[in-house]
Amino acid sequence: MSFPSCTQFRVSVIGAGNVGSALAQRVAEKNLADVVLLDVIAGRPQGLALDLMEARGVERHDRQIIGTNNYSDTAGSDVIVITAGIPRKPGMSRDDLLRTNAKIVRETVKSAIAHSPQAVLIVITNPLDVMTHLAWQASGLPPHRVMGMAGVLDSARFQTFIAMELDVSIADISATVLGGHGDLMVPLPRYSTVNGIPITELLPESTIERLIDRTRNGGAEIVELMQTGSAFYAPASSACSMVEAILYNKSRLLPVAAYLKGEYDLNDVFIGVPCRLGCQGIETVLELQLTETERNALHTSARSVRENVASFTAL
Ligand code: NAI
Ligand code: 2OP
Repeated sequence: MSFPSCTQFRVSVIGAGNVGSALAQRVAEKNLADVVLLDVIAGRPQGLALDLMEARGVERHDRQIIGTNNYSDTAGSDVIVITAGIPRKPGMSRDDLLRTNAKIVRETVKSAIAHSPQAVLIVITNPLDVMTHLAWQASGLPPHRVMGMAGVLDSARFQTFIAMELDVSIADISATVLGGHGDLMVPLPRYSTVNGIPITELLPESTIERLIDRTRNGGAEIVELMQTGSAFYAPASSACSMVEAILYNKSRLLPVAAYLKGEYDLNDVFIGVPCRLGCQGIETVLELQLTETERNALHTSARSVRENVASFTAL
């Protein structure tokens, strides 16, 4: 008797915390790939994987979810997603956090890529654009196989706030956010539409500014509400859409932190721009026509990322 086989893709998620475990669930339950969930904490990824495996009886998929503390179990992954890191703790400076996460990201990337040299690497750990740069350096991969997840999330937040403001279905909304994942991100109202109609035709400038501010502070708003921990459902959905686009060669145009080589007059920096994603990773970077104000905002954001990278490449 032969059974219908599903495509045997393997995705390894490094860091089995909130984002990592939610992403493992999405990838498996959307039937995209088998998932290896890895963490330094003994037992945690194994327990989460078993829990997700047991949900298969209800969710009705045959994907394998493996929990491990051992990188050899990640061998042969098509996509590796880095969510490992620590959140900021009381008494810890931003520099301490950067220093610690830089070390974790470098170590985890080196270990994971050693077992999956053909993989596409997606970085989620914060500060996103800086960690993506460090991950690329540690990986030795060509830049088109390394990217950071933030633009999909930031655009999804902008879409949500537009839909809520106009009381229309999210299905009709498309939003574009460029730049780094932080206060200097660059939401683009001209390129954000409701069924093709730019929101600049539908909302007054002051309202758009309010929605942009809320988007820029989207992560902080959730931290403020939750008090412990940060957002993970929307981040996991965002990363999952990137994983799907890569594994299934979807040619989707998604905003991701990509390495620029002259596009937007920027060089040697990872920053959020629209990219066509496929099985090679970043297939092309789309260069939008920007106004002078938009271009300056993107360059300011890139300058800030570059300064942070420069201060941490020496660590
Ligand atoms: P979390 O604290 O729930 O999970 C982090 C996990 O990493 C923990 O289970 C921890 O044990 C593990 N870890 C730490 N060091 C490790 C190592 N050396 N090897 C393997 N695993 C290790 O954090 P959460 O909420 O899952 O967030 C993860 C990261 O993603 C954070 O840096 C967060 O700021 C960032 N983030 C970024 C977003 C984006 O848009 N780029 C959105 C949401 C979160
Ligand atoms: C967010 O935007 C914490 O970067 C994370 O929710």
